[in-house]
This record gives sequence, C-alpha cells and structure tokens, in this order.
Amino acid sequence: MPTVLITGTNRGLGLGLAKAYAQQADTTVILGLRNVDTMPEIKAGQGIKVIKVKIDSGDIGSPKKAMEELKSQGIDKLDIVIANAAIGDCFGALSEVDLSSFEEHWRINVLAPLALYQACVPLMPEGCKFVWMSSGASIIDRVPDKTDAGYGITKCCMNYLARYAHFEQPKIISFSLSPGWVQTDMGDRAAILSGMDKAPITVEESVEGMVKVIADATKDNYSGLHMRYNSTQSKW
Ligand SMILES: NC(=O)c1ccc[n+]([C@@H]2O[C@H](COP(=O)([O-])OP(=O)(O)OC[C@H]3O[C@@H](n4cnc5c(N)ncnc54)[C@H](OP(=O)(O)O)[C@@H]3O)[C@@H](O)[C@H]2O)c1
Repeated sequence: MPTVLITGTNRGLGLGLAKAYAQQADTTVILGLRNVDTMPEIKAGQGIKVIKVKIDSGDIGSPKKAMEELKSQGIDKLDIVIANAAIGDCFGALSEVDLSSFEEHWRINVLAPLALYQACVPLMPEGCKFVWMSSGASIIDRVPDKTDAGYGITKCCMNYLARYAHFEQPKIISFSLSPGWVQTDMGDRAAILSGMDKAPITVEESVEGMVKVIADATKDNYSGLHMRYNSTQSKW
C-alpha cells in the first residue's frame, strides 16, 4: 500500500494533490497541516486511508514530532513526500526587499522543507520520491526579468536541495517541481499584482500534470532535475 505525505493540504495545490491521491486505489494519504481542524472534507476512494498530522513550517521540530506520531499509528514507510507548504508574499526588487519578510520566507520555504526531508529520510525506502515544490520564480536564467527576488531566492533553494538530495541519497528519487502559474490564493495574488484577473492554469490541470510527473519519475529520468507540471524540464 503506497503512502503519500503532502504538506499544506488545506487549500490550493496541496488540497488539489490530496484530493487526487485520495482517489488512487489502496493508498494511504497523509495530510500535513499546521492546523488539523482547517482541512475541508475530501472524498476518499476505495481502500484509501486518510490521516491528518500537524506539521507547522514555523517550527523546525514539527516534522520529527509528526514522524513519531505517524509511527505510533503504524506508518513505517513513506513512498512519496511532497514538500508543498510555502508562503509567497516577498516580492519587489532586491534593493528593496523587506528583510524581516525575507527571513520569514526563508524559514517557511527553505528551513521547513529541509527539516521535513531530514525527518522523513529514515522512513523512506529504496525508490521512494521526495518532491520539492519549486516555482518559475526560482529560475536564475530569468534574472533580471522578474520582480520576485525574496520569494524567488527561497524557491531557488528548493532546486538546490532537490539536486543535493538526489546525489546524497542513492535510494531516493528527488526532484523539484514547478506547478505552473495556478489559480490559488498565492497564484491569483501574483496575477492581480501583474494586472491580470487570475492565474492562467486551474488547480486541476496543474495537479493532473504533477501527479503524472511524480508517477513517471525514476532515478534515471527526473531525479536531480527541476521539472515542470507538464513533464518538461525547467531551466535552472
Ligand atoms: N500557485 C502558483 O501559481 C504557484 C506557482 C509556483 C509555485 N507554487 C508553489 O506551490 C506550492 C503551493 O502553493 P499554493 O499556490 O497552493 O499556495 P497557497 O494557496 O497560498 O497555499 C499555501 C499552503 O501552504 C500552507 N502553509 C503556509 N505557511 C505554513 C506554515 N507555517 N505551516 C504549515 N503550512 C503552511 C498553507 O496553510 P494555511 O492555510 O494554514 O496558511 C496552505 O496550505 C507552494 O510551494 C508555492 O510556492 C505555486
């Protein structure tokens, strides 16, 4: 029975991913939430087990506590981990970046996924997958044609972490994944700032693509790379 852990599942892409995996037969879906009471009900298919666990990205000890709790509930392996939870409000030019906001983004978007990785590795068997949620904002090749320095730097780190973990852990398929520009709170906020009504891609379209990328990923094809939701490789 495959076990999938996703963080930040109460809304946006995390919720979309949770709904999609809850329809995959005989899967255990672990929903990582900073507040387990905020998760909307999701429809679970046949043989699906859904477990909620507190994972607060603001507390670097939280993933270890979550793993202890999961082990006490009989979870002894994680086949897929998706480090999805993040914040994305630190925009603007480098010379003007609000440093306290950047520090918060650094903690939530970089330290927390690293803490999650460290806590999960002991439970990850050969061939398991660790997915680091990245963004087009991470792409160094796009500098200086972007105005999201603070957020972009944190997502650039996700690419680094993904590649490092790929080489460090031969048993783990590790890659960063960009979801596209998606209609979520975060995506639509950025769209409005850019003068658009909403982001161009629906959650369903992005999630369908990401689930396929994750299913297709092997150590030889996507591991160590920055992938996009449409199965293409992203620039660094
Ligand atoms: N939407 C896009 O266009 C887009 C594009 C590129 C990359 N991404 C990436 O895709 C991922 C999901 O983004 P999204 O668009 O779904 O964002 P979203 O709608 O803003 O949702 C963010 C999720 O992260 C959780 N989160 C934030 N701070 C947390 C904390 N301290 N502890 C635990 N959970 C926390 C939120 O939980 P709460 O409800 O409790 O705050 C929420 O579930 C992120 O990594 C984002 O950077 C999104």
